[in-house]
Amino acid sequence: MEHNSCYKLAFVHLFCLLFFMSPLVLCQLDYKYYDANCPNLTRIVRYGVWSAIKNDTRMAASLLRLHFHDCFVNGCDASLLLDGDQGEKNAFANRNSARGFEVIDDIKANVEKACPGIVSCADILTLAARDAVFFAGGFYWAVPLGRRDGPTSSDTAANQQIPGPFELLENITAKFTSKGLDLKDVVVLSGAHTIGFAQCLTFKSRLFDFDGAGNPDPLLDASLLQSLQKACPNQDDSDTNLVAFDPVTSSKFDNVYYKLLVNNSGLLQSDQALMGDNTTASMVLNYSKYPYLFSKDFGASMVKMANIGVLTGTNGEIRKNCRVVN
Ligand code: HEM
Ligand SMILES: *[C@@H]1O[C@H](CO)[C@@H](O)[C@H](O)[C@H]1NC(C)=O
Ligand SMILES: *[C@@H]1O[C@H](CO)[C@@H](O)[C@H](O)[C@H]1NC(C)=O
Ligand SMILES: *[C@@H]1O[C@H](CO)[C@@H](O)[C@H](O)[C@H]1NC(C)=O
Ligand SMILES: *[C@@H]1O[C@H](CO)[C@@H](O)[C@H](O)[C@H]1NC(C)=O
Ligand SMILES: *[C@@H]1O[C@H](CO)[C@@H](O)[C@H](O)[C@H]1NC(C)=O
Ligand SMILES: *[C@@H]1O[C@H](CO)[C@@H](O)[C@H](O)[C@H]1NC(C)=O
Repeated sequence: MEHNSCYKLAFVHLFCLLFFMSPLVLCQLDYKYYDANCPNLTRIVRYGVWSAIKNDTRMAASLLRLHFHDCFVNGCDASLLLDGDQGEKNAFANRNSARGFEVIDDIKANVEKACPGIVSCADILTLAARDAVFFAGGFYWAVPLGRRDGPTSSDTAANQQIPGPFELLENITAKFTSKGLDLKDVVVLSGAHTIGFAQCLTFKSRLFDFDGAGNPDPLLDASLLQSLQKACPNQDDSDTNLVAFDPVTSSKFDNVYYKLLVNNSGLLQSDQALMGDNTTASMVLNYSKYPYLFSKDFGASMVKMANIGVLTGTNGEIRKNCRVVN
């Protein structure tokens, strides 16, 4: 199995050492994994992501989030893509919220045409998330490949493992550390909220009666509060209205998210909570000032996230259709 050999270029070893610090993970994945058997893979994925974003700019955000939600539940194994009533798609964080599945289906169909039975859905999702950030104006990073697709998908597991917007920072951090990520990854990866939208129900509790005495969240900028109260009137039927995380540049992958947090203008309670801890607040301040630092760190944290619980070798399978096990 040439693919799984550890005798690759020296920089791969350096990379693995720097980012994973664990001999167990060393060289399971490989930057050149599909070079021989599916040389056009990256081109096909890039084109699919580009045309989806051209049609719908929000799709960049949606694809990035799909990858996150896949990786946080049983590892990056495309379990999120499996159809089924008891699957991850049906978990609270995903139902009526996760989008982009058709884009992955289309890309997968094109990949199957070019190289049938070779490329996993988990790798396609990983590449799509990377390309989405790039086409949204963000940084580009190399992704090691060779993930395989998992056999199961559980809504219960997703409900337990995907962080929620009302959770405390320490609870969210605990979820990240249980995946081998750290506090810095929490801050860096939360920067994904520089693109995309949230439904009112994910932050409405901050707007009207946050404290049970009729007051809004004191950590919310007054003028933002006014505009959010308009976008999300205090009635149930506003629950699914959409609001941009970053109203300044909602489809550009930049560091404005951090500038907003510094201004008390984070959308979710969990976003603004990054300012409520001295360590994370100083990281936020750093990223608000140095966009390049954010870009660089984001790529590194994304590679870490993309390595959570991956199946390699003879584990899992290469799904033919991302929605069903073979
Ligand atoms: C740190 C804990 C996190 C929490 C609590 C959280 C929570 C949320 C919530 C509540 C939404 C809105 C969903 C909706 O209203 O339908 C959302 C959207 C989004 N999240 Fe997160 N998220 C977190 C971390 C991340 C990470 C790590 C990423 C990616 C690396 C990410 C990427 C996104 C993107 C891009 C969107 C917008 C999706 C779209 O417009 O389709 N989030 N998140
Ligand atoms: C890769 O794509 C190019 C351009 O579409 C095509 O000409 C070439 O035949 C493809 N190669 C393989 C191995 O599929
Ligand atoms: C384009 O995006 C819209 C949503 O904005 C979607 O309904 C439609 O299916 C997309 N079209 C294509 C060709 O992907
Ligand atoms: C945080 O985690 C603790 C311990 O698991 C739990 O008791 C608490 O309800 C959680 N709080 C929030 C707001 O998520
Ligand atoms: C943050 O607030 C300051 C002072 O009110 C303002 O000058 C700046 O434009 C704000 N930045 C963002 C990103 O909203
Ligand atoms: C956090 O910073 C504030 C203000 O600089 C300081 O008063 C407080 O002691 C710090 N807390 C911790 C835990 O370091
Ligand atoms: C801020 O960034 C600098 C590098 O530019 C780094 O040395 C420093 O540790 C960072 N501070 C925090 C709190 O991350």
